[in-house]
Amino acid sequence: MSKIKKIKNYWELGYQIADIVEHTLTLPEPKLILPTGSTPLSLYKELVNRQLDWSSVTTYNLDEYVDNTIQDQSYRYFMVENLFKHINMDEDNIYFPGDTAVWPQMDYGIGVDLCLLGIGGNGHIAFNEPGSSFQSETRIVDLTEETIKDNSRFFPTIDDVPTQAVTMGLKPILSSKKIIIMANGKHKKDILEQAMYGDITEDIPASILQTHTNMEAFYCD
Ligand code: F6R
Repeated sequence: MSKIKKIKNYWELGYQIADIVEHTLTLPEPKLILPTGSTPLSLYKELVNRQLDWSSVTTYNLDEYVDNTIQDQSYRYFMVENLFKHINMDEDNIYFPGDTAVWPQMDYGIGVDLCLLGIGGNGHIAFNEPGSSFQSETRIVDLTEETIKDNSRFFPTIDDVPTQAVTMGLKPILSSKKIIIMANGKHKKDILEQAMYGDITEDIPASILQTHTNMEAFYCD
């Protein structure tokens, strides 16, 4: 049975998950799946502060916009600014879905040691929106109106928000050895609880995480 770990504040959330990442980085040639968004920012700040050795690490981001005209809002730019430019990652070991060479590997299992996830207000993980098949692979998807609205806070107007993204599918996400899902803020509480304790249904993509044997959920108000 899954359990939500209640953390006292947002900085502590970043600190506790950074401990798990730091441990993962001691493995040989660690592989990590990483999210963008507002939730992992305290984690990325903490990881930068710790000055860890990332030289043998490979990272795979969960998603990237398609046809994005505002490059500062690309997920690659977000990752460079908030993490990659501050650590000693080898650029060749940084992958985004849409880098065609890596798609097949992502889809058939790449032995990811740790997958970090946020959760959308509608229960999406990566851009696997409600209704996505639990068997879904990496693919191009249309974003829902709710997600476009959620993401519009980062764009000059809602019309600038891309309507499509490339997302890692639920199947490759689930093939990770360990999964952490994190949520920050009261507005995420209900959906996280539904995902962790409710029915396992494609209407709430994150609910499939209940079937993973090494998964933890972290929440702070
Ligand atoms: C981003 C991603 C998304 C976000 C989710 C929550 O790479 O995969 O699923 O994790 O939309 O976003 P925030 O953290 O901004 O609330």
